Amino acid sequence: MFRTAFRSAARSAAIRTSAAGASRRAYATTQPPKSSNTGALVGIAALVAGGAGYYFYSQNEVAPKLQTAEDATRAVKEHKVDYQKVYKEIAELLASEASEAYEDGSYGPVIVRLAWHASGTYDKETGTGGSNGATMRFAPESDHGANAGLKVARDALEPIKQANPWISYSDLWTLAGTCAIQELSLGNVKVPWRPGRQDKDVAACTPDGRLPDASKEQKHLRGIFYRMGFNDQEIVLLSGAHALGRCHTDRSGFDGPWTFSPTVLTNAYYQLLKSEKWSWKKWDGPKQFIDDGSRSLMMLPTDMALIKDKEFKKWVDIYAADEKRFFEDFGKVFTTLMELGVPFPVESKPITFDAINA
Ligand code: HEM
Repeated sequence: MFRTAFRSAARSAAIRTSAAGASRRAYATTQPPKSSNTGALVGIAALVAGGAGYYFYSQNEVAPKLQTAEDATRAVKEHKVDYQKVYKEIAELLASEASEAYEDGSYGPVIVRLAWHASGTYDKETGTGGSNGATMRFAPESDHGANAGLKVARDALEPIKQANPWISYSDLWTLAGTCAIQELSLGNVKVPWRPGRQDKDVAACTPDGRLPDASKEQKHLRGIFYRMGFNDQEIVLLSGAHALGRCHTDRSGFDGPWTFSPTVLTNAYYQLLKSEKWSWKKWDGPKQFIDDGSRSLMMLPTDMALIKDKEFKKWVDIYAADEKRFFEDFGKVFTTLMELGVPFPVESKPITFDAINA
């Protein structure tokens, strides 16, 4: 019922903003400027852009329609660097009918997974991979086994990219992950986010095998996450995202959700890890765990490693007992994840968005 109330509030928010959204999108269409003083207007736009000019020139792929000086100013203010507007469009997507019609009623979990897989390829030794690049747009990276199913999220976000061609895919995907975490936690998790990622071409695709293999345990988890620069506490924290979403037999081969509320981010993942009795699922699929109680939940071998390993377990206990702390710490670590491998411009500053559906 809580979820229904949340959805209907979200829907009315989407309806409330749809008229304004439609006019903004129309404004952003690609058309050559008509008037003879176009050059002057573009000049004004560049001047107004000021510090934001970095994005204006390096990331804009199409010229906006600039017919008056007012248009030019508005283009800069509302279209070139208005991340709040993009955040809102993503939140509207999450509350849209298409999202509600998707499994469990939300694109949120698969969008979180897209943002994490785009970032979690980072290797701190070589400085390669990470969220800067959005190379999962290209094969071979899009075809890596770990990325199966993420086309759903990339496609869902594409209209927002088309409406805001100035934003890089790398910024869009990480902003979308950030938005999904904030919205699905009903505003409980704050994720400061910085713009400035640049898309790279196919040559920057990362090799297969950089993301974790769910069939393995603590040694593998440490190998993968230490390579990104994370510690034990952060491995446990990040795994808490499995409160969201589910596994699919046609993507990873695993099956089922981790929690009873896969579209709301809470600390339920840690509580269930501890409170349920987990046994190997008897089925014709990869080795995974099933809860003895409801027989509807699952855990991966990597999830169970968090209560098998003493160091990890310490943090599971802390986050199971203290949801407020989980919310606070998770927001920080998710920001770090979204920033892996990004050489931010000096002028970039974190932006904290207000959740729209809180
Ligand atoms: C600790 C190592 C991790 C392993 C081995 C792992 C593995 C998996 C697997 C096998 C799936 C199911 C994919 C499918 O069949 O659709 C999945 C889904 C998911 N993962 Fe992870 N994951 C890990 C860490 C993370 C992290 C760090 C995050 C985010 C911070 C995350 C967020 C998600 C989400 C939200 C889903 C649900 C996607 C959906 O519902 O479509 N995972 N993960």
